[in-house]
Amino acid sequence: MESKESSLETSTPNVSPSAAASNAYALGLTQFQGFWIPSSRFPTSSIISFQKYFQALDDDIIVASKPKAGTTWLKALVFTIVNRHSYTLSNIPLNSENPNLDLSKIPSPMVFSTHLPYSMLADSIKRSNCRIVYITRNPFDIVVSLWHFVRGVHNLPDWPLEDCFEMFCRGEESYGPFWDHALGYWNMSVEKPSNILFMRYEELKEDSVAQTKRLAEFLRFPFSLEEEKTGVVNQIIDFCSFNNLKDLEVNKTGKMPRSIIPSLIPSHKLFFRSGKVGDYINHLSPTAVERLSNVLKEKLSESSLTF
Ligand code: A3P
Repeated sequence: MESKESSLETSTPNVSPSAAASNAYALGLTQFQGFWIPSSRFPTSSIISFQKYFQALDDDIIVASKPKAGTTWLKALVFTIVNRHSYTLSNIPLNSENPNLDLSKIPSPMVFSTHLPYSMLADSIKRSNCRIVYITRNPFDIVVSLWHFVRGVHNLPDWPLEDCFEMFCRGEESYGPFWDHALGYWNMSVEKPSNILFMRYEELKEDSVAQTKRLAEFLRFPFSLEEEKTGVVNQIIDFCSFNNLKDLEVNKTGKMPRSIIPSLIPSHKLFFRSGKVGDYINHLSPTAVERLSNVLKEKLSESSLTF
């Protein structure tokens, strides 16, 4: 959580290797300021320091998300859009760096990322004019993606999906509850639309061109007519696509270097699984889908946010 790092923290949910356990504490999560924080990787003291000392600049850009909502994709898009005049697609650092790594040596605007909920962001961010882009995703796909990821990172091939699912429904997962996380950013995007953009993974898949243009405009890096005519938007979309990023050598063989727990260093390839919308159908029973739908209906009943 150091200031001026491009990642306020990495995208790794926490589970202890021995835990075939099904409660948050056994999986290394701590309840802090209303959310479940993977405190064995990100001590809550570092969050307090961040809240106290982080100084946001007006042209900072913050990519915010829950793990498995499409963080890697959004980071790649934001970085490429913002730096498209400094690099070509063949020499942009994403060819040799995973999007989740520290890209802070790049000149302003700085691009940061965080999984922290809006309520836990430093006041300087909330007071500044910086841009926050939030990405969310249908929670059914998030649960399934999270389950695969945790099993891979922690070498827990036998961790039951049911345990992961039940914890998710109780809100007990990294940076959960999911609904409170999304609601915080949703409410602020309604209140301060020029500072907070609320994006959805499914919409980005469905209409990549419109959503990428929307993102670029929000970031104050709009595409010119000339760029649109010459296909720059589509080139960026193709470069940041699942198929392109996953096949880069760095993402096939690289590992995250900044892990606090040395035995739990995620390979970059774990951030690229299937990249599909609706994969949950292959994993969750109709009863499970109904159960989580009901939880969401109840939790979001007083809000205009729907999933
Ligand atoms: P799946 O596990 O469903 O495939 P995060 O980056 O927040 O950890 O999210 C990871 C999810 O986003 C994974 O979903 C991963 O495959 C998918 N993903 C990663 N890069 C992507 C890209 N460029 N386009 C679309 N999806 C991507």
